[in-house]
Amino acid sequence: MGDLVVGLDIGTHKITTIVGEVRPEDIYIVGLGIEPSDGMKKGVVDNISALSTAISKSVRRAEKSSGLDIGRAYVSVSGSHIDSRSSRGVATIVGSRTVQAEDVEKALSVARSIDIPHSREILHVVPRSYTVDSQEGVINPIGMHCFRLEVDAHIITASTTSLANLEDAVESAGLLVDRFVLNPLAAGDAVLTVHEREMGAVVIDIGGGTTDLAIFIDGTVWHTAVIPHGGNDVTDDITHWMRVPFGLAEQVKLQKGHADANAVAEDEVFPVEPFGGEIMPVSRQHLAQVIEMCYEDIFEAVQIEIMRSGYSSQLRAGAIITGGGSQMPGYRDIASRSLKLPVRLAQPEKITGIADALKNPSYSTSVGLLRVGLELSSVIGGEQKAGPGIGLPVANWSRRMKEMFYRFLPQDD
Ligand SMILES: Nc1ncnc2c1ncn2[C@@H]1O[C@H](COP(=O)(O)OP(=O)(O)OP(=O)(O)O)[C@@H](O)[C@H]1O
Ligand SMILES: [Mg+2]
Repeated sequence: MGDLVVGLDIGTHKITTIVGEVRPEDIYIVGLGIEPSDGMKKGVVDNISALSTAISKSVRRAEKSSGLDIGRAYVSVSGSHIDSRSSRGVATIVGSRTVQAEDVEKALSVARSIDIPHSREILHVVPRSYTVDSQEGVINPIGMHCFRLEVDAHIITASTTSLANLEDAVESAGLLVDRFVLNPLAAGDAVLTVHEREMGAVVIDIGGGTTDLAIFIDGTVWHTAVIPHGGNDVTDDITHWMRVPFGLAEQVKLQKGHADANAVAEDEVFPVEPFGGEIMPVSRQHLAQVIEMCYEDIFEAVQIEIMRSGYSSQLRAGAIITGGGSQMPGYRDIASRSLKLPVRLAQPEKITGIADALKNPSYSTSVGLLRVGLELSSVIGGEQKAGPGIGLPVANWSRRMKEMFYRFLPQDD
């Protein structure tokens, strides 16, 4: 067995710990712990001790199923505190020689030296493409002759306090954060084909607290965003409409929910019995209307974000939708109508070992974390921390450079 890595996906709805070996052809899963989340709201921490207890349960379960001690993990990050922008960096190559890894590092460090407030920090620096003298769109400049190397990078920033709260909760559960990984980068990795990534696609992860999106073009990430609405908002609206507790509204949503009111019979009525209350008849079509409106709001917000990115005309492979909320029947038309794109529903592929429970759209981010954690070693925001237990050894620079380019190397579909 090769190196094992750990992904800890801290969602608003559930916490998933996965122990696995990342192989070129698949991810071989040897340990798994899935527990309900607590202390999270809309992708950010709102109760550190409750969250820490929930993380601990998920990790202990993964330890039990793998028979291993877990010391550190790649940890998912979401929330509306995430922001992203483009930046360019230049390095001059002195003397007549070819581009080396150090030159790329220099150009990237210039790209990342953007003005950000003290309250924020850089989470990821993703190189999009390079310009080698006047030749634009170079994917891997290493080894090319050049005087002036320019990088076009996508810089993702996060609120320092939001990350610190998340890190505190993870550490209180007894493990170290290997590095943080933005949710939609992980989801994109788990569900996109190489073809889609090259053609241009938007990955939309409808979770409990947030809907995360990432635009992939020419094989890499061009834009990312987090929208603070997800499946919990759908349940909240049902709660208000029916005047029942959240748990009961969630049950009703999962059992009877539909996002296309026209597809539901007008006269279909089902009974709901609130705890300690009287049985009430509920019109399924009315329920569907409430849900439909919520999904319309979510996709409208997604569409605004796609337009804001400036890349709407480049999404030739369409929208790939995943996350727990993507399992609601009937929303597909809303999605393709709002986004004006072909839509595909996706779940993690190419997972082996004890993977059955993960073959569901809810786990795309959880699965993608393992590979992206390894790939995006160009993540800036603190050196990788050594810790006890399994996980990657501290990366050396050449390894980090290799990983930085990994995404640009051809992969099998
Ligand atoms: N079959 C289903 N139909 C409709 N919605 C569903 C279904 N299964 C799960 N959901 C909804 O999906 C949401 C949870 O999704 P997911 O597990 O992806 O969230 P999460 O990763 O914990 O949260 P987040 O990433 O937003 O922090 C909940 O709102 C839940 O009601
Ligand atoms: Mg999630």
